[in-house]
Amino acid sequence: MIRLAIFASGTGSNAQKIIQYFEESDDVEISLIVSNKANAGVLNFAEHYDIPSMIIDRQFFYHTKQIVFELNHQSIDYIILAGFLWLIPSYLVKAFANKIINIHPALLPKYGGKGMYGLHVHDAVKKAGENKSGITIHYVNESYDDGAIIFQTSCEIYPEDLPTDIQKKVQILEHKYYPEIIEKIVLGEVKKRST
Ligand code: GAR
Repeated sequence: MIRLAIFASGTGSNAQKIIQYFEESDDVEISLIVSNKANAGVLNFAEHYDIPSMIIDRQFFYHTKQIVFELNHQSIDYIILAGFLWLIPSYLVKAFANKIINIHPALLPKYGGKGMYGLHVHDAVKKAGENKSGITIHYVNESYDDGAIIFQTSCEIYPEDLPTDIQKKVQILEHKYYPEIIEKIVLGEVKKRST
């Protein structure tokens, strides 16, 4: 079994899709949910699907390396970020080199970086008058939304679309593609390409 830990801060809709996608898998298991928010929606899914979960705080994450011990102890192979909004510290990027995957709700390298999450992203896309947006799945490095891109796909934006409409279109892509691409990556069917 390939064992995945999902890190999430928010609602957890992507985490839920990923959990459901791999529920019957013989190869891949969601073994741990990690959140930095005690009230994150994702923790309800963890409970519902009987997946162990862990709540972390800044002191633990940035000033100790204990999480590496925890992840290794649970034989975690990959870390999947699904709306996890804290920067991944360098020690963790090194410990899980090319084993941390993120999804971003825009076509990177545009509309990424610190503070670019949720509706902020779609607001910026709308303000710039883009006629398309989409998703980017990428490896994680020490900077926000900056690692090598693995997969992108886009959707059209019409002039009348509000940021919330863009968000809905992008979320459909996230839910459809993130689980499938994760599977391909962890089964070794996707090769890293440089940005
Ligand atoms: C998703 O849209 C994801 O792409 C985004 O957070 C949302 C989480 O939604 N991530 C980022 O913006 C990373 N920079 P969810 O909690 O419903 O899965």
